Amino acid sequence: MSRKPRPFTDDPMAPDGGSARGDLEAEFGAHGQVVMPGDAEAPILTAPVRAALHQWLFEMNAEAELKAVGLKPRTRALLQGPPGCGKTTLAHHISARLGVPMVVVASNAMISKWLGETGQTIGKLFRAARRNQYGIGLFFDEFDAMAKARESLGQQGADNERSNITIALLQEMDRYDGLMFAATNVTKNIDPAIWRRFQLQIEIGFPGPAERFAIVRLYLAPFIADDATVTALAEVMGGASPALIREACEMIKRSLVLGPRMNLSTDLPAIMERFVASAAPAEGVPEPLIWGEQRRRCLQLLAEAPWPPVRP
Ligand SMILES: Nc1ncnc2c1ncn2[C@@H]1O[C@H](COP(=O)(O)OP(=O)(O)O)[C@@H](O)[C@H]1O
Ligand SMILES: [Mg+2]
Repeated sequence: MSRKPRPFTDDPMAPDGGSARGDLEAEFGAHGQVVMPGDAEAPILTAPVRAALHQWLFEMNAEAELKAVGLKPRTRALLQGPPGCGKTTLAHHISARLGVPMVVVASNAMISKWLGETGQTIGKLFRAARRNQYGIGLFFDEFDAMAKARESLGQQGADNERSNITIALLQEMDRYDGLMFAATNVTKNIDPAIWRRFQLQIEIGFPGPAERFAIVRLYLAPFIADDATVTALAEVMGGASPALIREACEMIKRSLVLGPRMNLSTDLPAIMERFVASAAPAEGVPEPLIWGEQRRRCLQLLAEAPWPPVRP
């Protein structure tokens, strides 16, 4: 009995029908995690990145017009930047805007598991992706692990195997015209031939003051803080990733809700001191402002900000 695919999204841009989560998991579960369009959130990004993405989304929906002048929409993007700045969130968001589910492949895990299989499993993954009639987004996380430059590898064992994986990847990318993302925080190792096959290279770095303001406001919701307070929080979180800012906001909300019952101060500087004491920023990147030498000034700024926020 053939099962009719059922729609997976209300997105007006989605194609008719689509694949059910269960079917996709049966097909792609061995390769990675399947994420459906419905769960996607839009990341907050800088204006130039937003503009570049806007154009890209537009052209993916204008295939016929591009074809008339001998062009195809770009479908492969390399996302670079530090952890927690929105690479996965962005790929998921774009897949969702196009109405397709995304398969998240952890490149690192794949390699150790596949050692000795000479990229055959890469072939299987891409074949499954090509076969899926409604389309999927392929997302390779930690891509540097898989796409390491061949000249940086030796000739022996595991390195040789990795080189085979790189070659398999090149061949598959040439035969796949679906949506594909790769994310990495170290680009210098990526094989130049693989690098060239990405039509977009998007840098998703740490947010600036305006983005931090928007991120703080987003993650403080449903609490509504004074603009001056949001500005102060955005300032003391200078140099932090959106993921860390989100954690800080969640700590604030948790403290506002539970603090009184636990006899903990719900003053903003006190909450943020507890946060700094209990959260470590990512390794290998400069410390955000409130973690560093300027902590006292940061706490002072927070002490001067209007508090508490309104809870509608
Ligand atoms: N630019 C952003 N705007 C809003 N939230 C973000 C952003 N970047 C990250 N986040 C939050 O941090 C979490 C982790 O981000 P993620 O997309 O996994 O980062 P990356 O893939 O770059 O390591 C997300 O689930 C989201 O809640
Ligand atoms: Mg990620």
